[in-house]
Amino acid sequence: MASPSEPDNPARPPAGIRLCALADLADPGTKGFRFRHETRLFAGFVLRQGGAVRGFVDRCPHAGWPLSGLPDRYLTRDDRHILCAGHGALFSLDGRCVAGPCVGDRLTVWPVEIRDGEVFTA
Ligand code: FES
Repeated sequence: MASPSEPDNPARPPAGIRLCALADLADPGTKGFRFRHETRLFAGFVLRQGGAVRGFVDRCPHAGWPLSGLPDRYLTRDDRHILCAGHGALFSLDGRCVAGPCVGDRLTVWPVEIRDGEVFTA
C-alpha cells in the first residue's frame, strides 16, 4: 500500500490551503487534518509552540501507523513530547524520536506557514 506521506499522494493538499487560525491552537497544542482524494488519504497535524507552528505528516516512522487515536491529541499530558499511541514512542516537539522503537528517526515534515494569524499549507 502506498504511504500517505508520499509527495505525489493526490490527497496531499497543495500550498496555500488554510488550515486554521493560530488562535485555534493551544500553546502548546496540536490539531489534526485529513484530506481525501477518491480512495487516497493524507493525514497531517500542526503543532503550535509560542508564535511558531510546525506541521508533520501523521505517520509514525516505526510501523507507519497514525500517531494518535484521538482527534487533535498528539502531545503527552505534560505537553513535552509528541506521543505515538501505537507503541508509545516519544518525539521531541521538533519531530525527533527520543524514546521507543524508532529512536533517532524523525517524523516527516509537512510544511506550513503563518500569514496574518492564519495557518496555511506551504
Ligand atoms: S507505530 Fe509508533 S511506536 Fe510503533
